[in-house]
Amino acid sequence: MKIDGRPYRTIWLADDGWSVEIIDQTRLPHDFAIARLTTVEEAAHAIRAMLVRGAPLIGATAAYGMALAAREAPDDQSLSRASDRLLATRPTAVNLRWALERMRRRLAELAPADRAVAAYAEAAALCDEDAAFNESIGTHGADLIRQAARKAGGRVVNVLTHCNAGWLATVDWGTALSPIYKAFEEGIRLHVWVDETRPRNQGASLTAWELNHHGVPHTVVVDNVGGHLMQHGMVDLCITGTDRTTASGDVCNKIGTYLKALAAHDNGVPFYVALPSPTIDWTIDDGVRQIPIEQREGSEVSALTGRTADGRIETVTITPEGSPVANYAFDVTPARLVTGLITERGVCPASREGLLSLFPAS
Ligand code: MRU
Repeated sequence: MKIDGRPYRTIWLADDGWSVEIIDQTRLPHDFAIARLTTVEEAAHAIRAMLVRGAPLIGATAAYGMALAAREAPDDQSLSRASDRLLATRPTAVNLRWALERMRRRLAELAPADRAVAAYAEAAALCDEDAAFNESIGTHGADLIRQAARKAGGRVVNVLTHCNAGWLATVDWGTALSPIYKAFEEGIRLHVWVDETRPRNQGASLTAWELNHHGVPHTVVVDNVGGHLMQHGMVDLCITGTDRTTASGDVCNKIGTYLKALAAHDNGVPFYVALPSPTIDWTIDDGVRQIPIEQREGSEVSALTGRTADGRIETVTITPEGSPVANYAFDVTPARLVTGLITERGVCPASREGLLSLFPAS
């Protein structure tokens, strides 16, 4: 995507030909800063501390982490340690495991001396593939927005989204936001309700930043507003991303997604989830019981960080000293609440049959 006229992805190879550059998302929306990763440890830190985040980008960063590892020490034992280190960073997004397995499979075919070059090539291919999948999700998802526009009879189409599933969460284009970008480019009149997405505020700080840069009309709302908006006919459809979708179509995504899906169901609002196929976990069926839900530091709940009027970044505590906090980062929306899954191969029902109709070899 373009920022101030210059095309960017979220991760790329630096000019030196071996270190990896990323947009440091912990600095947005206040600063657009580039960070450099030179070791597998730095890649692991970038994922864990959320300099990069979003399921597809976590996978892409892990792939480049393996390339850095192969450059450092290409023997089997070192690569196995590097892969374990990367896998332990965040438990929920299955794209991490998928990317590591793909890299390990590719490297296992080669002699250690040939591994570094091959690892960089594989990581680059994985990134290109992610960008292409997401663009295709945009094309399929834009059909749904076009249909909503026809139904709205010329009125602006209102789309609600949760967290950030835009280009910042992927290598490029995004998943939930890709259809929005495509529909907007096509001239469909739309407006996006952006859930702020506590505790880390990926909606308020990242989705709003993206939409702002691309001129897409949007409004940031606190997380609890969605139900009210839907009751009053102010949402035509919801589109979110996902960190892991089971073979039966249960969808795990940022905490609060489930409540939006319940409100959508109660109000007859279509609830779509956009995902590239590496986000499907074909090994499990029951999302509620089988998907590991990340629990993060309580400080993300008990404190807020923002920019003061005179430009300083400050963190303030909002809970009384001594009050315990809990920080569940994701929840699971059962397939029955999902109207459809938007994938790179088209839109399907959120069910095993639906997924198999698009991905029969799985
Ligand atoms: O904790 P995060 O910011 O990594 O969570 C991101 C999300 O929940 C996204 O919706 C999901 O990864 C899909 S991104 C295309």
